[in-house]
Amino acid sequence: MKTIKFCVFLGVILLQACATTPPTLYQELGGEKKVVEIVDNFIAEIEFDETLFEYFKDSNVNRFREKLIEHVCMLTDGPCEYTGDSMVDVHTGMNITESDFNRGVDLFINAMTKAGVPHATQNKVLAVMAPTRKEIIYL
Ligand code: HEM
Repeated sequence: MKTIKFCVFLGVILLQACATTPPTLYQELGGEKKVVEIVDNFIAEIEFDETLFEYFKDSNVNRFREKLIEHVCMLTDGPCEYTGDSMVDVHTGMNITESDFNRGVDLFINAMTKAGVPHATQNKVLAVMAPTRKEIIYL
């Protein structure tokens, strides 16, 4: 009887924990599948954008894809370790202008919209990406 009571007690505690733990932004997005879809859409957007493609023309697209998937996963509190270079190291020497940075953000928004990410979730993703701006422009 004691064991049954203990199990019921434990079950209630676990249910409460599940009910009260808010999902991470990564989970809200839809996890790995959705992050991969967004990054693939983003790469397609860059390929069709003359201005931004200029920056990427000598880049290794497979590496960029892999590292950006990890980076978005990390920023949204997903279960990933980012193994790429620091934002400052990667973007130093590119002298990315503010307007080109904003263009990149617009293309990322298009990529999320095409992946069916709701606007409220998009805004949360943009909010966690925003602080990286100062590590990317005019370097
Ligand atoms: C919030 C905005 C941005 C984020 C989070 C971001 C993130 C990243 C990441 C994770 C990588 C791969 C790092 C690695 O290879 O170790 C990368 C590479 C790169 N990024 Fe960004 N980036 C952003 C904005 C931009 C913008 C606006 C441009 C250009 C206009 C740009 C140009 C590049 C290029 C060309 C590479 C490839 C570098 C290479 O081939 O070595 N990034 N970025």
